[in-house]
Amino acid sequence: MSAQSQKNRLTVPQVRARKGGEPLVCLTAYDAAMARLLDAHCDILLVGDSLGMVVHGMDSTIGVTLDMMVLHGQAVMRAAKQALVVIDLPFGTYEKSPEQAFQSASWVLSATGAQAVKIESGVYAAETIRFLTDRGIPVMGHVGLRPQASLSEGGFKAKGRDDAERQRVLDEAKAADEAGAFAIVIEGVEEGLAREITQAVSAPAIGIGASAACDGQILVTQDMLGLFDWAPKFVRRYGQMSAMIEDAVGRYAEDVKSRAFPGANETYSFKQKNG
Ligand code: KIV
Repeated sequence: MSAQSQKNRLTVPQVRARKGGEPLVCLTAYDAAMARLLDAHCDILLVGDSLGMVVHGMDSTIGVTLDMMVLHGQAVMRAAKQALVVIDLPFGTYEKSPEQAFQSASWVLSATGAQAVKIESGVYAAETIRFLTDRGIPVMGHVGLRPQASLSEGGFKAKGRDDAERQRVLDEAKAADEAGAFAIVIEGVEEGLAREITQAVSAPAIGIGASAACDGQILVTQDMLGLFDWAPKFVRRYGQMSAMIEDAVGRYAEDVKSRAFPGANETYSFKQKNG
């Protein structure tokens, strides 16, 4: 990653400085083609471990590996020139110890050129966040609904149903904030709790399924573009990508079957050489 290619890119301190200001526009990106389209519109592109489900058809994010994150992270970094790029550390690559997290995070950042990592951060993760940030690795926290906890929680469950759970999510966010996270994703909580957390932490809070009370929003890009039949109910669809693709592919198939493709003047023609 040359110094030149990093020149116009949003930095971690600039993101931090947006606390309480203009809302941060964030989306997921997993490949170069999409990153190129999103880059100019987004402050942050997250190479989320949701790529396991969105791109690789997994049932959860549990089977995602560090190698997968590096491969997708490299693709995004080749195309994104302005947005801050954050890469998720997947399940099993950071929870064991701060040292394990440092090894995973430093490898991901040096192999991709991305600016920061994200970890799903229960209160226990504060020590790891502090360890990484003290050593120059910017960390985004992720509290509330934590998809990597889907095995122990029996699925993807919104958080804050009772006082104890609300307090736990608030504690997770405060712990990540005090440990030095530069931004914190809040997923799957209702508006009152999202507002309380946003006001309680000094880092920008980025909501997903957590109302407009946060300092910014993130969505899975393919959800908001309408690539799938189903999307979480908090997702507003800004496109009908699946209908568009099905229509285009259907018309293509008809053309191929009726030999209407390719058109006569769309193919190669070579002049015959005499002799
Ligand atoms: O993996 C992911 O894409 C995420 C976002 C949805 C926040 O964690």
